[in-house]
Amino acid sequence: MSPDFALSSLADKIQIAPGLEMNRLGLGTYKADEGPDVAGEIQYALSVGYRTIDTAALYGNEHAVGETMRESGVPRDELFLTTKLWNTEQGYESALRAFDTSLAKLGYDYVDLYLVHWPLPSKMRDTWKAMEEIKASGRARAIGVCNFLPHHLETLLSFAEVPPAVNQFEHHPRLQQPELVAYCRSHDITVQAWAPIMRGRVTLIPELVQIAQAHRKSPAQVSIRWILQRGLTTIPKSIHSNRILENSEVYDFELSDREMVIIESLDQGERLGPDPDRFS
Ligand SMILES: NC(=O)c1ccc[n+]([C@@H]2O[C@H](COP(=O)([O-])OP(=O)(O)OC[C@H]3O[C@@H](n4cnc5c(N)ncnc54)[C@H](OP(=O)(O)O)[C@@H]3O)[C@@H](O)[C@H]2O)c1
Repeated sequence: MSPDFALSSLADKIQIAPGLEMNRLGLGTYKADEGPDVAGEIQYALSVGYRTIDTAALYGNEHAVGETMRESGVPRDELFLTTKLWNTEQGYESALRAFDTSLAKLGYDYVDLYLVHWPLPSKMRDTWKAMEEIKASGRARAIGVCNFLPHHLETLLSFAEVPPAVNQFEHHPRLQQPELVAYCRSHDITVQAWAPIMRGRVTLIPELVQIAQAHRKSPAQVSIRWILQRGLTTIPKSIHSNRILENSEVYDFELSDREMVIIESLDQGERLGPDPDRFS
């Protein structure tokens, strides 16, 4: 069955908070080093139509990300910029300071989305107070979280005055987390999938290779399309122009219901990154 929302180009958006839209498909920058790697990645991505860019204090590339975006000539209001608060900076005062540092490195006076990078239950309340203040100041148009499981979200929602707009977590054919997706959906939290192409390992899954061949597409494109077709959002990363383009060419084919079901059957609960309950 075709999705009941437009899937036509990189310009497709979803509303993540009142009056704020984010592109369904954006660009990741983890392990894109500060300097020519990340600058080249972003320049090329913007030139082919990407508008949503995901960085983090942890990635050490905020300076080049911001500089490249500012120098691109793309008007600021056409761009959507996300950065994240790293774990060591969680807490009230430290989160406020960390946000100032990120903003200064990016060279902008606001970001579109500021995310808590990992759940730290002992600091969640103080950290979220700072996040809400940052949002109230207008310097982050929306706030959200990453890697929160349903029980973390449950705790956060029990005291949050501003609920998280987005939960960005690991999501791909081998790690689908259906309960978490359902929880986010039922609480109006937009899901943004990280590692959508399993850091390249989708090419090793025979069923994806077969589906890709049937559409004359790559397994990476099939995985990205599968995520988008389910109504989720995602941010594949590559520093290579051919792959940046490839990962965006997902609008000229559609997965059948049968193919969607086959991909759903590939879930093995296999994490590439840390378990949020065991990471601090
Ligand atoms: N919130 C969090 O905790 C969290 C955690 C991890 C990631 N993220 C965000 O999510 C983004 C995406 O996740 P990710 O970077 O971990 O994984 P990913 O996007 O699934 O995979 C990126 C890797 O796959 C390679 N690749 C890219 N396109 C490809 C293609 N078409 N075919 C084969 N290989 C390809 C890239 O290599 P090259 O660059 O060499 O092309 C890179 O090594 C990150 O960049 C980051 O912005 C967030």
